[in-house]
Amino acid sequence: MPDRLPDALHEKLSRRLNYYEDIGIRLFYRDRVIARDAEEFERAPVTIPISQEEPLPKISPKPIVPQAPSVAATPSQKVTILPPAPKVSLFDAASKVADDSLLKIREDYGECTRCKLHSTRNKIVFGDGNPKAKLVFVGEGPGRDEDAQGLPFVGRAGKLLTQMIEAMGLQRSDVYICNVVKCRPPENRLPEPDEIKTCSPFLLRQLDVIDPKVIVCLGACSAQTLLETNRGISHFRGQWLDFRGRKLMATYHPAYLLRNPAAKADVWKDLQKVMAVLGLQVKKGKPAGAEKPS
Ligand code: URA
Repeated sequence: MPDRLPDALHEKLSRRLNYYEDIGIRLFYRDRVIARDAEEFERAPVTIPISQEEPLPKISPKPIVPQAPSVAATPSQKVTILPPAPKVSLFDAASKVADDSLLKIREDYGECTRCKLHSTRNKIVFGDGNPKAKLVFVGEGPGRDEDAQGLPFVGRAGKLLTQMIEAMGLQRSDVYICNVVKCRPPENRLPEPDEIKTCSPFLLRQLDVIDPKVIVCLGACSAQTLLETNRGISHFRGQWLDFRGRKLMATYHPAYLLRNPAAKADVWKDLQKVMAVLGLQVKKGKPAGAEKPS
């Protein structure tokens, strides 16, 4: 065995390892390690059994209208039903469109002037990715880079999201990525309720047409919008929730992770649950900082 890896391979490997480190994985299974390093790994515990999920907390701040989850739930994949939407649901306005398609939705969206965000936007960020994706990520709204390019999650947070997707064993082109609002809120402020209300019917149509197995909400705005709740994301992050018969997982926004890298471990756990449901090989790594958040 040569002492040094060829430069190109070394570089590729080190980029990949940096990348795993960035999303919080530092340790790997022993059988992936060359024999002379095995001893070092012998002492380190390495796996997170994804079946050992914490019991689901009850989420019932308001009365719940009992509703059977329409998604098959195994004991390790329970689906929590959040309290029902307010009397008039955000999504009531989203009438079903016959033979709907992403193209039709984009045409209907047009050069939208329905809300005040249109006056400051450069480009509409409709969404991007596989129209038949099994996994859809929903963010909050475009930032500066997205507004300039017309594509979701292409800035710093987007690069981290891309790393997360690739660490799941997928490419960006395998998934679909979109946002609650399709135009950049000025100064990256939170989208306002009227803007969300105006834009959400289009998001709902996108989700209906794509018909993913799993929706991952990135951050509170996305999760609160789809779940029609005011509850803080920490109350339900990492749990399987129901969104109109589909499985929804809310996790932290990549921009939050850039500010709070210790939370990457939690997000990785959430994504591992998603991988398990999608039948993707769950990486046997241990999220860095899981025991010692810094
Ligand atoms: N943040 C979001 O929520 N969406 C984007 O597209 C980019 C950053």
